Amino acid sequence: MNNYLQRIGFTVWRRKTTIIVLGGILAFLIFGVNFIRVPEKDDYMKEERDAQVIADALLRSINVKFVETVNRFKGNSAQPTESTNMDQNKEDLTVKNQVESLEIEQQLGIPFVNLDSKRPYVPSKRIVHFDLKGAPPRISYLKRLFPLIKTMGATGILMEYEDMFPFSGFLKNITAKNAYTVEQIKEILDLAEESKLDVIPLIQTFGHVEFVLKHPEFSNIREVVGSPQALCPSRNSSLNFIKELVTQVMVLHPNSKYLHIGCDEVFQMGECDVCRLELHETLFLRHVRKVANIVHEKYPEVRVIIWDDMLRHLSQQTMIDMNLGKLVEPMVWVYAEDIYRFVQPPVWDKYAVVFKTAWTASAFKGAFGETMYIPNTKRHLENNLRWLDVMSQQSSVFKQGMAGIVLTGWQRYDHFAVLCELLPAAVPSLAINLIAVSKGYFNSSLKDQFLSALSCPIQNNLRNSPFISLDSDPFMWEKLSKCMFPGSPFFRLTYRLHSTEKETNEYLHLTKKQKGWMTDYNIRHNYSLPLRVEELTNELPRVYHGMISLARSAADAMLDIFDGYTISEWIEQHIYPYIIELETIQNQSLALKSVNQWPSRPLPPLKDFKRLGIPLSVN
Ligand SMILES: *[C@@H]1O[C@H](CO)[C@@H](O)[C@H](O)[C@H]1NC(C)=O
Ligand SMILES: *[C@@H]1O[C@H](CO)[C@@H](O)[C@H](O)[C@H]1NC(C)=O
Ligand SMILES: *[C@@H]1O[C@H](CO)[C@@H](O)[C@H](O)[C@H]1NC(C)=O
Ligand SMILES: *[C@@H]1O[C@H](CO)[C@@H](O)[C@H](O)[C@H]1NC(C)=O
Ligand SMILES: *[C@@H]1O[C@H](CO)[C@@H](O)[C@H](O)[C@H]1NC(C)=O
Repeated sequence: MNNYLQRIGFTVWRRKTTIIVLGGILAFLIFGVNFIRVPEKDDYMKEERDAQVIADALLRSINVKFVETVNRFKGNSAQPTESTNMDQNKEDLTVKNQVESLEIEQQLGIPFVNLDSKRPYVPSKRIVHFDLKGAPPRISYLKRLFPLIKTMGATGILMEYEDMFPFSGFLKNITAKNAYTVEQIKEILDLAEESKLDVIPLIQTFGHVEFVLKHPEFSNIREVVGSPQALCPSRNSSLNFIKELVTQVMVLHPNSKYLHIGCDEVFQMGECDVCRLELHETLFLRHVRKVANIVHEKYPEVRVIIWDDMLRHLSQQTMIDMNLGKLVEPMVWVYAEDIYRFVQPPVWDKYAVVFKTAWTASAFKGAFGETMYIPNTKRHLENNLRWLDVMSQQSSVFKQGMAGIVLTGWQRYDHFAVLCELLPAAVPSLAINLIAVSKGYFNSSLKDQFLSALSCPIQNNLRNSPFISLDSDPFMWEKLSKCMFPGSPFFRLTYRLHSTEKETNEYLHLTKKQKGWMTDYNIRHNYSLPLRVEELTNELPRVYHGMISLARSAADAMLDIFDGYTISEWIEQHIYPYIIELETIQNQSLALKSVNQWPSRPLPPLKDFKRLGIPLSVN
């Protein structure tokens, strides 16, 4: 999508004459009437969507070009104007002020989304997702975070416990060894209550039950014998398991009005002997109904939420026949920028017929790459702003409007994946996105709220220095380098990781690839010039110690946020491989330098070529 937009932007840029004309039109739009309104939902046919996308892209690139035109205009305005009319001059001044403030907004790099500036849409519930299947925070960290997210506009939290819940009885073994205790869960709930945050527990009950099905004692309820991804919905023992799961979680959440039962990404369905005879639609919906009934039998007041992705392709009639609208509320999730590309208008129409209300889910981290360590705030902000646009359009379509939005913050993509961006590195992204969905927009008028929430030093009114600059600084490393929010030392550490990593990769590339004396060939044949090897390893100790010291600082920065397992996993993932690679080079250099007599050329061909079937004939 981005590429597509960039391409359009580029084409537009090349057609400068057209731009100037369009720039004029834009000026009219800004100063004259108001922004083009997005067409009513009913008008959204496919072609019109495409037209809208192109129009959006045009507006964006024109916006950029427009500021350049404005700059030229400002440069000229120092000279006396030809007009002698006083009113004309005054008008010029107002225009100039508007131009200046527009220019300041442009520098912030806030993605352009066509929101209604007169009546911003604010979702009534704004929930922050805590994904505990990776890097569970210490209670003391949550204690600092809850009041913070409250002041930034959150109304609740979605706790995805996975194996961090203290299960007991026959579920005991699915609990992680570093899970929260019952007392700690109660403490978390008390802390949430102190901050007036509602708590919605989330437990997976169909797909993504890897944390359960990986264990031998639960392998009998797998859908596919060799895979722990999905539960078999056709076995009584599956339902017994779910009953126990629901009960144990609900017992610790007596005040929760909602229970999220997951049900996303059920990759394996209809494969076991029993399930094979059924349609996927029926299998899925019948299981959801069973789980919802399990919840309602014991907790009739609790409302059940499911992720929506498995519903996107189901027929409206089947969902109505199953009475799905009475059983569950869908949570429509899209973390990429363009919401309608993933959930198209006809899907929304279908949902509006089946359900009275719907939830939405955006992301503030954990959506743009499994191994990232810092979220790209610009992309996440665009996702959240576009959700506001979509929600304002769709809320009128559902009988009871939209229930609310969840800002998801994934810590792993699934139980088996490595850690992605950690929570403390994503607090700035959470702040900007949470404030945005709590206000219905984000612009410089929210600067003070944003900076004070993150405990940033008061800026001495430097007019020409924007408080964020998402185009050149999408991770906000530079602009927020002096802030003191919970976890800021770790946030800063990711910047250091970025620069240390860059320097190390440059060294590795130079040494192993670019220069001709320490490549894998040299190492395999133990054949190099010691003088050159010496030269190539001059910088090695400095680079190596940089990495070691980074690893030690990382452990320090995470000490009051995570337990030792998380700290260890993160350092092993992001820093340790470099340390080993540098050590290997050190060892290899010693081997190369210890040679002082060399065979005559040619060197023997690689024996391994034979295995690979590469035909070679040397006498
Ligand atoms: C920020 O956006 C709001 C809502 O659209 C608008 O009322 C306000 O004037 C904007 N402020 C600035 C500085 O652009
Ligand atoms: C838990 O695992 C242990 C060790 O693998 C096993 O002996 C025990 O029976 C299991 N407990 C339950 C309740 O399944
Ligand atoms: C599952 O339980 C139901 C009702 O309790 C029973 O009728 C059915 O035979 C059981 N199925 C299996 C496969 O045990
Ligand atoms: C490098 O050599 C040292 C000394 O022989 C050894 O302890 C170390 O494990 C080696 N490192 C690597 C990465 O091979
Ligand atoms: C390279 O040569 C040195 C010195 O003869 C020797 O100690 C070392 O084991 C050799 N290394 C390899 C990889 O053949």
